[in-house]
Order: sequence, then structure tokens, then C-alpha cells
Amino acid sequence: MNILGIDIGGSGIKGALVDIETGQFASERIRLVTPDPSTPDAVAKVVKTLVEKMAYQGPVGAGFPGVIQHGICFTAANVDERWINTNAEKLFSEKTGNPFTVINDADAAGLAEVRYGAARDVNGVVLVLTLGTGIGTAIINDGVLLPNLEFGHLKIREKDAEKRASAAVKAKKKLSWKEWAAALEEYLLIMENLFWPDLIIIGGGISRNHAKYFGYLNTRTKIVPAQLYNQAGIIGAAYFASLTHAQSTP
Ligand code: BGC
Repeated sequence: MNILGIDIGGSGIKGALVDIETGQFASERIRLVTPDPSTPDAVAKVVKTLVEKMAYQGPVGAGFPGVIQHGICFTAANVDERWINTNAEKLFSEKTGNPFTVINDADAAGLAEVRYGAARDVNGVVLVLTLGTGIGTAIINDGVLLPNLEFGHLKIREKDAEKRASAAVKAKKKLSWKEWAAALEEYLLIMENLFWPDLIIIGGGISRNHAKYFGYLNTRTKIVPAQLYNQAGIIGAAYFASLTHAQSTP
């Protein structure tokens, strides 16, 4: 079964058809620019364009960069604040005419890594971090995800961790790999002392460059790059929609 997965990010809205059996893309990936301001209506318009470009009809899964409870968005750190209290599932479903399932983007990435990637068959606690515009966090214990953990906003010396160690910060402050890795390491040490994970998975676009900075990270816990790199968000969102859809289909 192929399902359309969409990853809504601070700078791009990306989508592809995903083969749910294998977790592989079953189409080309389309990337459209996130509108500025990224209001619900403006984003929904781009999502509609993406669905139309795919010529797709059926259930859609979307990952969103905020807390999502039962389809409703409750935080908006890196998108327009008008998202707060917006029913994203309803908005996208109405706009596109396709049934949408929406979850937090890091949760989507975490689910994808557990089902198809670096956390597959890993017992115990896995911490998945997505480093992009912000820092997304997912913790999975023996394959079970606790949704909507927002540890990118954990304070380090009074400042959100994501304002110190996200990929966007590296670009904005023009940090070298070594300088940025020092900020990331500080964050990782706090996270491992709080959660004692068995494995840390680094995702987001910057996971492709892992060879440039993993050597600087001295953590007790084993760290690996996301196997699905920054495609994990698309794949996990599609996978989650397939689970939801299977439940609602008699
Ligand atoms: C948001 C999270 C999101 C993360 C990655 C954070 O700013 O609060 O919900 O998962 O960015 O996009």
C-alpha cells in the first residue's frame, strides 16, 4: 500500500508516496517552500498544491513542527502562532478532500526509525533527535512512543536548547562543525543524564553530514545517524496514517 506522507517544516513542505511495507519512497519527493507568514490558511494552500501535484487520492499523513493532540495544534515555536488551537487534521482534510492524520514531526521521524530504520529491533530506550529549524525529540521504549515530548525547549543557561544547538543555529551563527558540536554535546549530555537512553539517533538534514561532527561528540551513549536521514518525517507520517486508517477501516 502506498500512502502520501508530508513533512511540514519551518522552511520547506516536503512530500512523497511511501510504500508502507518497505518504508521506501514510491514516487519522487516534492519540496515546496513554506509560506511566510506560515499561517494555517497559507500552509494549507501549499499542502493542497502538493497533494494535487502528486495526483493523489486517499489517506495522507503529515508531520507538523508543534505539539499535536488528536489533530489539534497546541504550540507554534517555528511557525505562525495562529496555528495554536487550529485543528490541522480538519483544515487539511477539508482543503484537500483527503482524510489527513497529523502528528508531531519528531514523533513521525521516531516512528519511522523504529519501524524501518536505525531503531528497528532495538530493545530499550531510544532517543531520536531531529536537528533542523528547531530540535525535535522523540523517546521510544521497546518500540512504544510517548508522543509530544518537547525537549528542544529544555533550558540551558536560561535559553532554549534549540536556540543553541539546532542546525539553523549553526547556519545563522556560521559556526564551524567543531563549535556547533560543542553546543550539541552539551545538550546531549543533559539529555542522557535525564533519560539514560540505550541509543541516540540524530536525524534532520544535518544527519547526512554526521562524519563531520560525530567525532567531536563524547557521550556515554552510542550515537548513530538516522538511517532514513531527513526523509524519516515523511515516511513516519505516512506510516502513522496507515495505522490510523487501518483502525478506521472495517
Ligand atoms: C517544536 C517541536 C518540533 C521541533 C522540530 C520545536 O520547536 O516545538 O514540536 O518537533 O521544533 O520541528
